[in-house]
Amino acid sequence: MKTMSATAQASPNIAFIKYWGNRHSALRLPVNGSISMNLANLHTRTTVTFGGVEQDSLHINGLPVSGKGLQRVSAILGLVRQRAGISLAAEVVSENNFPTGAGIASSASGFAALALAASQAAGLNLEQAALSRLARLGSGSASRSIPSGFVEWQMGSGDEDSVAVSIAPPEHWALADCVAVVAAAEKDTGSSEGHDLAPSSPLQAARVADAPRRLEICRRAILERDFTALAEIIEQDSDLMHAVMMTSRPALFYWQPATLSVMAAVRRSRREGQPLAYTIDAGANVHVICPQSHAAQAQQMLSQIPGVQAVLVSPVGGGALILP
Ligand code: PMV
Repeated sequence: MKTMSATAQASPNIAFIKYWGNRHSALRLPVNGSISMNLANLHTRTTVTFGGVEQDSLHINGLPVSGKGLQRVSAILGLVRQRAGISLAAEVVSENNFPTGAGIASSASGFAALALAASQAAGLNLEQAALSRLARLGSGSASRSIPSGFVEWQMGSGDEDSVAVSIAPPEHWALADCVAVVAAAEKDTGSSEGHDLAPSSPLQAARVADAPRRLEICRRAILERDFTALAEIIEQDSDLMHAVMMTSRPALFYWQPATLSVMAAVRRSRREGQPLAYTIDAGANVHVICPQSHAAQAQQMLSQIPGVQAVLVSPVGGGALILP
């Protein structure tokens, strides 16, 4: 039987201005734009093969995935099949080069790699905007793992134009993300459910109303390579998102005691003149952003904090790509 196959690679990204809450949850249309940077040292590699199987199957790091995880992947495969005019089931094999359960979300890199590999395997030659939009339907933040370097996901007016674009290439600014891993456990509430809870916090409306201001400051800080401005805005944005999470009903508390220890150490270091800033996604790990020239020192400092199990360092990464 004829098979059609392609392999793609994509990196996770760390959000500087966070996506939290949808105006349309099935289409993953966000209530605010967001800005992130891709992480070069971490990646997902995914091979999609259409044909030769009876039904869609998924393996992640060698383990079969069924249920909701498979359904989410099948939904993206279905869109690709529809567009390419094919009806073949697909085998999806995905590997992450970062430890599973280290609290580093693989949905952004996973759905970006899937969107690219599946569309390529099906013979579609999608442009970057169309790929970003397809990845977005799997996981909102995956839209930002398609373009390269520093990326802005524009909220857009609808499904068509809610896509991510690169605002600067990786070589524009040599920053690093030092991920202080404090919790290896799976989080209780995933981000899809979290987005749905966001409107139950009375603080969400204020967070969203102020988003254009934060986006503007962050965009400018990146373009001007202004670390002080970047540090202040990303910490405020992360704190605002966590304030919304903590005041949602039911409340979402992602932090662990070590999360606060790392945040305090970062603030202290900055007062002492070190260029460090923290940002935290829907988990307990702390992403410490700094110039690459300070990454080794930051890694050393962070790994001495009680409760920090590992520190993964990554420079700014490129976009999703097809592997030969
Ligand atoms: O793409 P999702 O649905 O996993 O949501 C990601 C949410 C955050 O990581 C908390 C923020 C962001 O913008 O990446």
